[in-house]
Amino acid sequence: MTIDDVKLVELPRFNDPRGNLSFVEQNNHIPFEIQRTYWIYDVPGGENRGGHAYKSTSEFIIAISGSFDVIVDDGEQRKTYTLNRSYYGLYIPKGLWRQIENFSTNSLALEFADTKYDRSDYIENYDEYSRLKSNGEI
Ligand code: TYD
Repeated sequence: MTIDDVKLVELPRFNDPRGNLSFVEQNNHIPFEIQRTYWIYDVPGGENRGGHAYKSTSEFIIAISGSFDVIVDDGEQRKTYTLNRSYYGLYIPKGLWRQIENFSTNSLALEFADTKYDRSDYIENYDEYSRLKSNGEI
């Protein structure tokens, strides 16, 4: 996987004077079967989350509220996606380094994953990630 495999997906949007509505479906807008959903909230100013890679977990991230930056890195190239609309989702396939920062006040990051939580799937050291990636081990 490279950062070219990361996809910003525009989600359906029903604009309505009563309030807008968007939705996601697995195996459709989210290109995998959802095994887990978690959310990150109440992030104090200046904090970062998710500085790691997953060996076999793919994710889909939505800024349900507020905004934040998602930085993706494949060991050679790095790209920043600013998520600030609830009708966009960012698909990050397995094997990429990712970090989330610049959370706005009251932001809410909703994350869907295609695996159950398993710490052994994490690579938490960037140098190790870079080495595994350049050896083709992930
Ligand atoms: P972690 O993935 O390290 O957070 P981040 O990468 O966003 O900085 O998770 C923080 C804690 O939450 C960690 O102790 C494990 C727990 N956790 C779960 O139990 N299940 C989950 O699905 C996730 C994502 C985290």
